[in-house]
Amino acid sequence: SVMREVTGINEMEQLLQRKLGINRVIIVAGDSDHSPWVKKELGLATANCMKSLLKGNNIIAVNGGTTMSSVAEALTPSIADGELLFVPARGGIGEDVKNQANTICSMMADHTASKHRVLYAPDEVSEEMYKSISTDPRISEVLKLIRSANLLVHGIGEALTMANRRNTSKSDLEKIKNAEAVGEAFGYYFNEDGEVVHKVQTIGLRLEDLSTVPNIIAVAGGASKSKAIRAYLKEAPTSTILITDEGAAKKLI
Ligand code: G3H
Repeated sequence: SVMREVTGINEMEQLLQRKLGINRVIIVAGDSDHSPWVKKELGLATANCMKSLLKGNNIIAVNGGTTMSSVAEALTPSIADGELLFVPARGGIGEDVKNQANTICSMMADHTASKHRVLYAPDEVSEEMYKSISTDPRISEVLKLIRSANLLVHGIGEALTMANRRNTSKSDLEKIKNAEAVGEAFGYYFNEDGEVVHKVQTIGLRLEDLSTVPNIIAVAGGASKSKAIRAYLKEAPTSTILITDEGAAKKLI
């Protein structure tokens, strides 16, 4: 639009695409750290982007968080062109119920008049439990759906903010701090070089599965998340679409 040209947002998007080495960046005006309505704009921009990608029937994997909750709020039945099925990308990672992927999935299904599945898995599982619950038929069916998702939509968090918000054990918190983690996405914590320094042991999508998901939208804004966004995108597939705000974008350029 004319507005976007006048404010230089289009130019900023292109610059950021080159800087981050990904194919597409979408920037909304403002900084969600300071203005709550900017998170709503991130939600709307993500809903529009999803609509442009969704042709026919789709399985959509999503993660949790407050940004994803804004995305859920912004969805309407008009985004679908066929049947949609929402699945949580991963099992519980210590979030409060309202921020959990299962909750976001059910909100998204409600708002789009479509279906969703629940992943009944405990937060943080032991190696043994991991093996046994993965073979439970109700769980393995959802895991199969997750791995066949054609769209993944997820948030990115600032590492310590996320670790403190979640049920993180003292020893894991120390580990995350000592490793100088700056970013987090679906339970993986990254340092500034984009290396995984900690992962929450739960079932669901693994980082190595991302390369087989045809469409990925990462949505995260606010100047406080700039380091997290940069770190995560070092490892993310170049096909990832980043939806962010001016606050984060200015710090990333
Ligand atoms: O994994 C990333 C976090 O879920 C982001 O949470 O959107 O509340 O900042 P947030």
